[in-house]
Amino acid sequence: MAPKIFVTRRLPEAAMQALENRFDVQCNPHDRALTREELLAGVKGMDGILPLLMDSIDDEVLDAAGPQLKIVANYAVGYNNIDVPACTRHGILATNTPGVLTDTTADLALSLLLAVARKIVPADSYARAGKYQGWSPLLFLGTDAHHKTLGIMGFGRIGFAVAKRAAGFDMKILYHDSVKANSELEEKVGATFVDKYTLLAQSDFVSLHVPLNPETHHFIGSSELAAMKRSAYLINTSRGEVVDEKALVRALQMGQIAGAGLDVFEFEPAIERELTFMDNVVILPHIASASMETRTKMGLVAAENLIAALIEGRLPPNCLNPEAFSSAAP
Ligand code: DGY
Repeated sequence: MAPKIFVTRRLPEAAMQALENRFDVQCNPHDRALTREELLAGVKGMDGILPLLMDSIDDEVLDAAGPQLKIVANYAVGYNNIDVPACTRHGILATNTPGVLTDTTADLALSLLLAVARKIVPADSYARAGKYQGWSPLLFLGTDAHHKTLGIMGFGRIGFAVAKRAAGFDMKILYHDSVKANSELEEKVGATFVDKYTLLAQSDFVSLHVPLNPETHHFIGSSELAAMKRSAYLINTSRGEVVDEKALVRALQMGQIAGAGLDVFEFEPAIERELTFMDNVVILPHIASASMETRTKMGLVAAENLIAALIEGRLPPNCLNPEAFSSAAP
């Protein structure tokens, strides 16, 4: 009998096919996120769970699933929604989908950067509204991105991919991370390691690429925003909770920074209302990895993790807690 898995939201067709070929798939029938009650009911009796980033997987969910549960295969690279130590205590493997969304996410971070710098969104609204009366020397004057300084917070896969793109725009690249990258990597993109406050003080654009964990919650708050240039822009494609969103609203209202490009929000899907009235802020509904190719690949990687754990008895390729492997083996 095929192992049973619960998929908390329908994925692109090719990914669903790959799962349905190997598993008895139960899937959220709604075109919306599951409520907590629906999640708890849906996981009951499952061998594997494929959750999304807003499905909080903790002791309660693991207990609700039952003792046959072997793997939680997150459909995201970020896994702050999964209590990995709880999975380990239950002898359940936890996996994510690194690598496949790096370039797509980096593309979007650059898109946000260019959009805020060049006022793309308000200019588009203006033209659509029929207000364009002819070329004008002062119409929608933005700021250049090329030859400016980009500060990258978090120099992992995605941060590095953003640096590669920014190098193509002749940007000067500073980065900060808990560890300095090796010099070969730095030289590839001409990036310089600096401390957090030097990065904030010297950058024209600050782009966030840190994972969300207790150390990075409100990593950017009022003192960090005050340390940025008044002409600088904040770009966030990581997790909303990395930024104190109320402090960001205040900083924007006081003109402490010039604007922001945001794909993620602290209390997602809720967005601080004031942000939605600001022309110098671009707001996207968490779509950094949203290309058909990448969302399909994420599903295929999650499928690979599930197949390894539930069918082949192997350690899944993207296991976050390999120490749980022996107790989880089929
Ligand atoms: C992730 O994978 O962590 C993104 O936020 C969703 O693609």
